[in-house]
Amino acid sequence: MNKRISTLLRMLLIITLVVLVLLAVVVYSYLAPGPAVPGNPLYRNSSASIDDRVNNLMSYMTLREKIGQMALVEKNSLEELADLQTYGIGGMLSGFGGRPEENTQAGWYDMVTEFVSTSKQSRLGIPVLYGVDAIHGHSNVLGATIFPHTIGLGATGDTELVRRVAEATAKEMIATNIHWSYSPTLDMPEDIRWGRAYETFSDDPALVSRLGTAYLQGLQGAERGRPQLLATPKHYIGLGGMVFDTSSNKNFRIDQGMTPQDESRLRTHYLPPFKEAVDAGALSVMVGLNTWGDTKLAASSYLMQTVLKDELGFEGFLVSDWYGVYEIPGGDFRAAITAINAGVDMVMLPFDYEQFTQNVWVATKLGLIDEARIDDAVKRILKAKFAVGLFDEPATTSAEVFGSDEHRAIAREAVAKSLVLLKNDNNLLPLKPGTSIKVAGSAADNIGRQSGAWTIEWQGIDGNWLPGATSILAGLQAVAPRDTTIEYSLTGEFPTAEKADIGIAVVGEAPYAEGWGDTPEPKLSEEDIAAIARLREQSEKVVVVLVTGRPLMVSELVADWDAVVVAWLPGSEGAGVADGLFGATPFTGTLPLPWPASVSQLPIVNNQTANGTIPLFPRYFGLK
Ligand code: BGC
Repeated sequence: MNKRISTLLRMLLIITLVVLVLLAVVVYSYLAPGPAVPGNPLYRNSSASIDDRVNNLMSYMTLREKIGQMALVEKNSLEELADLQTYGIGGMLSGFGGRPEENTQAGWYDMVTEFVSTSKQSRLGIPVLYGVDAIHGHSNVLGATIFPHTIGLGATGDTELVRRVAEATAKEMIATNIHWSYSPTLDMPEDIRWGRAYETFSDDPALVSRLGTAYLQGLQGAERGRPQLLATPKHYIGLGGMVFDTSSNKNFRIDQGMTPQDESRLRTHYLPPFKEAVDAGALSVMVGLNTWGDTKLAASSYLMQTVLKDELGFEGFLVSDWYGVYEIPGGDFRAAITAINAGVDMVMLPFDYEQFTQNVWVATKLGLIDEARIDDAVKRILKAKFAVGLFDEPATTSAEVFGSDEHRAIAREAVAKSLVLLKNDNNLLPLKPGTSIKVAGSAADNIGRQSGAWTIEWQGIDGNWLPGATSILAGLQAVAPRDTTIEYSLTGEFPTAEKADIGIAVVGEAPYAEGWGDTPEPKLSEEDIAAIARLREQSEKVVVVLVTGRPLMVSELVADWDAVVVAWLPGSEGAGVADGLFGATPFTGTLPLPWPASVSQLPIVNNQTANGTIPLFPRYFGLK
């Protein structure tokens, strides 16, 4: 008996020792320092070719350092600054609303610079790439110029203007030392009940290709013969085709849903804007959170590797969307393996980088991920970093450009040119001099509403709060000729009983982002409808200005309005709306997508409604 116990104990001890030794070997090999780097390695030589620099740098990198480059971490998830070096983290982002304590240009500059310089003090000195969603200006930052949301740019149809908007946005980003934007959005909505319709240019691939490319080129620029920052066309691919009530998120209706379109439709309709973006030199592309067939996009080796990389020749890196990799079924360990094998190069984790780096390291050591795949991903990421000069001297710009008059003038021009005139009985617009005006409605004096979401907060802020911005009402007051009188009441309840010549109702949607904006029926609120009715009683004619991210169901109301203007989500420069109404800028905008008469017409595919009836206004409608 005793002998048996002691044999057993001895065996146990041996097993424990073996396990410990194995563990020590694994830990040592995980933490093992990489090959020594000579004093002046080739990769630091800015006159060497990017390929040579990448290859040289990679020859010094351990597997762990390579995997670190593939991690994209939200800034608030970074446990300590030193982790940038410990894990060799490749990318950081501000999830929307993720900001420095002091939310100013200077506060952002200091925050990002601290991250970058910390990362550069690591063994290999690889700078971290910092990204933001500059989707309508550098709109995370107080004091930035807030440009119209993308749908408004689509309505302008103006390639040159869109390029200037992107150039100005890039300058404001660079003023905060940021060289990576998650824009432009190349999605094309077939169903405007989707809460992201306003993030898109249009549902027409030709227009999206043209404006998307202009935006990308404006952002990336070509300073000293190289791009000044990385644009990120998104979301690859087919998000606009997602079907109502197919979302994988229980809180949403469409967003993160199913794209049932067959391959030929994906290729002929959804792929062209991405092809153009790749040809125009896109350095990164973001993969969507949708599902095609039964595969999450971030797991589709066919769409990412075969189509985008092999067929289209995309040489930049593929970044997954927020937590998207972990939406792949099978648990965290398997999900990361599937996504990386399928072609994701940088993983927007965005949280647990420690678990990610360890899991991917183990998976690679076990042969579940080919080391050549890791090398390919890291090469792509490093190439982009070299391309924008992060290792040398990245583009800089003076702080003065931030929210400058020059940029606000571009935004105001974009607002005026985005206005779409849908109805204009008896040529009521432009307004004549000497008019008495009553203004009402929820979006008249509400900079938060006119800016929409992705403005300081992810879901935006409903209210009048953005410093330096001009509300639509303030714009009307500033632009109106001197002999014009303007009274304002939010609800349309005015102290004076006297009828005005014109009632201007500025009405529309409260801010929303992503799936939180999915709705069974986009429409006006009861309060706004009541305000219009009161204006109707108190003015000879009524002009309705729709401040909205998408067509609203107004077919039963519109007959009662004398003139209708769609202002989309104009952003900080509300005076652009007045420029249109008072005739300083002619109406040239057109609808970038068809305007349905009712939700029974949705989805609208290739300008054809679901039930075969005609929309209230077709795509490209707009009175001049
Ligand atoms: C959105 C992306 C965005 C990312 C980072 C995600 O929720 O789908 O469009 O770039 O967040 O903020």
